Amino acid sequence: MKLPFARRDYIVERLLRADAPAVALLHREDFVRPWSAAEFADLIDQTPVFGFAARQVGQKGRLAGFVLARLAAGEAEILSVAVSRANRREGLGRELMEAVMRELHAERASHLLLEVDETNLAAVGLYRKLGFGQVGRRPGYYAGRDGAPATGALVMRRDLR
Ligand SMILES: CC(C)(COP(=O)(O)OP(=O)(O)OC[C@H]1O[C@@H](n2cnc3c(N)ncnc32)[C@H](O)[C@@H]1OP(=O)(O)O)[C@@H](O)C(=O)NCCC(=O)NCCS
Repeated sequence: MKLPFARRDYIVERLLRADAPAVALLHREDFVRPWSAAEFADLIDQTPVFGFAARQVGQKGRLAGFVLARLAAGEAEILSVAVSRANRREGLGRELMEAVMRELHAERASHLLLEVDETNLAAVGLYRKLGFGQVGRRPGYYAGRDGAPATGALVMRRDLR
């Protein structure tokens, strides 16, 4: 795979341990239970874990989005993906996911799994557009925000061969 590759005013390249604080800040924008910078650093250090960062060119490489995935014992899964609110709907989520799928294809992984809140229309829309299909559902999987009722998780899968 050719890395890094330029896209308009962003560059998509490997996620590094040094990105952990910026990743944690971005993750905090949207998730009810944000992961800390230390948790992200630990994850990025793990051999089966890999990821990509979308950096804004000319903004000191400001992190506009990231994706983290794991490939272990032939099982590939998305751990987390997020794009900064200021940079949404510009195709970055799709590019980050495609970078993961290219890497998994090169590693000969057979499929990619993920879990997503069924009320998260942006993420479900992105995954469907990328060819993921629903293979399961876990009711009440995600705690609701500010006392809202818990929501279900969709388990989605994309064949890579
Ligand atoms: C989900 C997320 C990563 C999408 O990132 P993005 O860069 O805005 O997505 P893209 O611009 O690449 O969009 C690709 C496609 O996804 C779908 N999509 C993206 N945002 C959408 C929205 N708000 N509503 C409906 N569909 C949406 C569309 O099909 C879109 O294609 P289109 O723009 O040609 O219509 C982003 O909304 C995000 O970070 N959300 C908060 C974190 C999160 O929910 N992560 C996923 C947890 S499982």
